[in-house]
Amino acid sequence: MNDSFDKPQLWWERDDLCYRNDYLFFGKQNLQVLAESSGTPTFVYNVTRIQQNLMRLSGALTKRGIKFKIFYALKANRYLPLVTSLKLGGLCGADVCSPGELLLARQAGFHENEITYTGTSVSDEDIECLKRHAGVHVNCDAISTLRRLGAQFPGRSVGIRINPSQGAGYHSGLHYAGSKATKFGIYKDRFLEALEVAGKYGLIIKTLHFHIGSGYGTNDLDTLDEILVGCNWFLDQCPEIDTLDIGGGLGVPLVEGQKPLDLDAWAGVIEKHANRRELEIQIEPGDYVVKDAGVLLLQVNTVEEKAGTCFVGVNGGFNIQSLAVYYQTPFIVTPLKWRPDVPKEKITLAGNINEAIDIFAEDVGLPAISEGDYIALLNSGGYGSACSSNHCMRGSFSEYLLIDEP
Ligand SMILES: Cc1ncc(COP(=O)(O)O)c(C=O)c1O
Repeated sequence: MNDSFDKPQLWWERDDLCYRNDYLFFGKQNLQVLAESSGTPTFVYNVTRIQQNLMRLSGALTKRGIKFKIFYALKANRYLPLVTSLKLGGLCGADVCSPGELLLARQAGFHENEITYTGTSVSDEDIECLKRHAGVHVNCDAISTLRRLGAQFPGRSVGIRINPSQGAGYHSGLHYAGSKATKFGIYKDRFLEALEVAGKYGLIIKTLHFHIGSGYGTNDLDTLDEILVGCNWFLDQCPEIDTLDIGGGLGVPLVEGQKPLDLDAWAGVIEKHANRRELEIQIEPGDYVVKDAGVLLLQVNTVEEKAGTCFVGVNGGFNIQSLAVYYQTPFIVTPLKWRPDVPKEKITLAGNINEAIDIFAEDVGLPAISEGDYIALLNSGGYGSACSSNHCMRGSFSEYLLIDEP
């Protein structure tokens, strides 16, 4: 491919993330300027977009007359300034899955009654921590947790996470429930036993909880509907439950042609079930809130053809943004400065970790990239810094929060 071209409108461009005079802007920030002044690798998050994402969710639920609360799943991104901005924004509480996340949510200003704890493989040490934070609502995903928490804290009001036996997500590897047994939640066949254990310790079951996977879309709403129908059996067993927590997992478009999750249809499915039983709905979105509100800036250090493939090597690897490798979901790769007059090329974007799997994207068509250029990985706001490691001792990166001036 060697035809030169002017920059077309790209499918993912939106008001707050687009090219102006060939430079990529995020809100009012020229990202090339930020990369040059502040160095790379750098994650950049936009508070306005985060708030818009939350408002879109709450708008859809409000429109349907649903009583609801949103708990942002901290595991997606726990950058403290970002989490603090969420607390100050007042649109959500925090869902945490470990003592570390619980303390971080408290440090960011969330009160105990604004925190839900939904952990797995819960240890006695975890339970000790929960005992010290009596106001945090705990969703138990195993009978073992109910037994040990109940023994330590009889009479506490808790939730039970069930395994709905069906899942949904960007692809089947990201389903949290399905035909193969998964570690999450209590299955129907042991739910009555769970209630018995809870009863033995006087635990009051207030919430039924499930989480179906990562990245569900409009096509998955039938599955969500079926799962909600299935919840009726569980709710019938335990009339004191007044809250249904449907977890997180809401997806966003990753490639051209994908449509955003139809939130009105989504809220319609929830409404059918919630309002009939007068349930409060809780949701725990993580990625939906931060994914498209974050980009990762990287600098190109190597451009070289190897066996017919043009490899573009950058100064960060899958250890700081692992989604492509671990979740097998694609990134959008784009240069910070669009060069209209250079030929278009297909490239493979490679990280700087000595592992064959360290590839961010393959076969991407871009204006020819040169060593020293900066590029952005879009949709990097979730499960990037939060999952990072120091593999090859290349764990350094910085994070910036963009707060538009009023
Ligand atoms: C219980 C629970 N809630 C919420 C989430 C957040 O999911 P997502 O970031 O896909 O919205 C997860 C993710 O693993 C989860 O396990």
